[in-house]
Amino acid sequence: MAVLGSSSSCSVAVVGAVLVIVLVLNGAGLCNGGKTSAFVRKVEKTVDMPLDSDVFRVPPGYNAPQQVHITQGDRVGKGVIVSWVTPDEPGSSEVLYWSENSEHKQKAKGKVNRYKFYNYTSGYIHHCTINNLMYNTKYCYEVGIGQTVRQFWFTTPPEVGPDVPYTFGLIGDLGQSFDSNLTLTHYENNPQKGQTVLFVGDLCYADQYPNHDNVRWDTWGRFAERSVAYQPWIWTAGNHELDFAPELGENKPFKPFTNRYHTPYRASNSTAPFWYSIKRASAYIIVLSSYSAYGKYTPQYKWLEEELPKVNRSETPWLIVMMHSPWYNSYNYHYMEGETMRVMFEPWFVKYKVDVVFAGHVHAYERSERVSNIAYNIVNGMCIPVHDQSAPVYITIGDGGNLEGLATNMTEPQPKYSAYREVSFGHAMFDIKNRTHAYYNWHRNQDGYAVEADSMWFFNRIWHPVDDSTSV
Ligand SMILES: *[C@@H]1O[C@H](CO)[C@@H](O)[C@H](O)[C@H]1NC(C)=O
Ligand SMILES: *[C@@H]1O[C@H](CO)[C@@H](O)[C@H](O)[C@H]1NC(C)=O
Ligand SMILES: *[C@@H]1O[C@H](CO)[C@@H](O)[C@H](O)[C@H]1NC(C)=O
Ligand SMILES: [Fe+2]
Repeated sequence: MAVLGSSSSCSVAVVGAVLVIVLVLNGAGLCNGGKTSAFVRKVEKTVDMPLDSDVFRVPPGYNAPQQVHITQGDRVGKGVIVSWVTPDEPGSSEVLYWSENSEHKQKAKGKVNRYKFYNYTSGYIHHCTINNLMYNTKYCYEVGIGQTVRQFWFTTPPEVGPDVPYTFGLIGDLGQSFDSNLTLTHYENNPQKGQTVLFVGDLCYADQYPNHDNVRWDTWGRFAERSVAYQPWIWTAGNHELDFAPELGENKPFKPFTNRYHTPYRASNSTAPFWYSIKRASAYIIVLSSYSAYGKYTPQYKWLEEELPKVNRSETPWLIVMMHSPWYNSYNYHYMEGETMRVMFEPWFVKYKVDVVFAGHVHAYERSERVSNIAYNIVNGMCIPVHDQSAPVYITIGDGGNLEGLATNMTEPQPKYSAYREVSFGHAMFDIKNRTHAYYNWHRNQDGYAVEADSMWFFNRIWHPVDDSTSV
C-alpha cells in the first residue's frame, strides 16, 4: 500500500500524522507522480449554436418525426427503446423494423405523451420498445406515417459473454455549443468506431435559459440525432436534468428528462429510471444517480446493495459504473460534491472490484490511479486515498463542451492519486478486447481524429488483477 498524498476531508494535522505512520510502515511511496498536461489550448468563449444552425434543422415534411434516439431496452441488449417527437399531431407510435437481410417487416407499438413545463408545451413524444431482436444483427427501422416516414438503422450487440470485444464511447456534459458539435464530430470520426455511448449526464443545459426554455431540449434532440438514432446512448441523469424550478411552479425533479429519455430500469428491478443496470457484450454497466437519495435505507442504496452481488464476472468480466458527480476530482469546481456518495458506496466498489467509474459534472478531463479511501471510521484518523489494486480507476469526462465553458482552475499541488488531468474538451473510448484487456483513451477536440491525448491499458480486476497503473 503506497500513500498517495493529500486529499479531501480530514484536517491537515491528521493527514500528516497518518502519512508519517504509513510511510514508516511501508517505506517510500511507490506511486507515480500525477501529471498535469502542459497542452496549451486557445481559450475562446463557449457559446451555444444559434437556433437557426444547421444541426437544429427540422426535418422536412408535415409532422415529420424528429429527435429520434435509441437506448438499450432490456437487460441483455436484445431490446431497444426507440423515441421520437412529432411536432404537429400525435401521428403513429409504431416502429417498423426488419433485419438487414430480411424483407419481413415487423411492428412494435409504443406510446405517446406530452408534458408542460411552465409556459412550454412539448410536442408528441413517442417511446416504443422493440424486444427479442437477434444479437449482432443490423436492423433498419422506420418511424412516422404517410409522406413523412424516416428510416434509420442500428446494430444489436453480440450475445453477452466474457470474451466479446466491444467499444464504448464516453461523452459527458455535452450541451449544444459549437464545442459540443466538435466533440460529437470527433467521436463520430474516431477511427476506433464507438458502438454505444456511455453518457455521464447533463444533456442539453436548457435550464440555463430563461424559464428553462424547453425549446432547447428540442434543439438538443435534433442535434444529437445524427449519432443517437443509429447507436444507443446509455443515459445517466445529471444536475441539469433536475429542472427543479419552484419559482416557475415546477416542483417535480427530472420532469423534461423523464418524459423524453427512457431507461430500461425495470429490467434490473430498479424502482426509478435514474439508477439501473444493463449487460452489454462483456460489460456489466451500473448507472447511479448523484441527485437521488442514496443514504442508508433509501431505494437507490437498497437496490445497489442487492445489485452488486448479482454481477457474475465469469459472464460479464467488465464492471463499469457511471454517475454524474465524480468522487475523485482535483479541480476547484464541484470540489467534494461527490464526497457523501463516496462515503456510502466506496467500500462496495472495492469489495466487488469495480473496474472503472466514469463521471462528468466537472468540465475538464481527469484520470485517477487505482485508489481507495475506506479505512476511516470516525476515530482512527485514517482518511487518505491509498493505492489499492482492488479499487476502480476514476475518470472524469465532463468535457463535452457545454455553454458553461471549461473548468480551468485546479487544486495545487496535484494530488498523487490524480494520474492525469487536462482542461480541454473531448471524448474517450473504452475498447474491450477480451476478459483480461481493455484499451482506454481520451481524445481532445484540438487534435486530429485519431490522436490519443491520454491512454492506458486496463487489466481486468478479476481475470488479470495486476498493477495497470502505468500509463502508456
Ligand atoms: C456541426 O458539425 C458538422 C460536422 O460534423 C457540420 O457539418 C456542421 O456545419 C456543424 N454545425 C455548426 C453549427 O457548427
Ligand atoms: C456465471 O456465468 C457463467 C458463464 O456464463 C455460468 O457458467 C455460471 O453458471 C454463472 N454463475 C452463476 C452463479 O450464475
Ligand atoms: C486479450 O487481449 C490482449 C490485448 O489485445 C492480448 O494481448 C491477449 O493475448 C488477449 N488474450 C487472449 C486470451 O486472447
Ligand atoms: Fe453537472
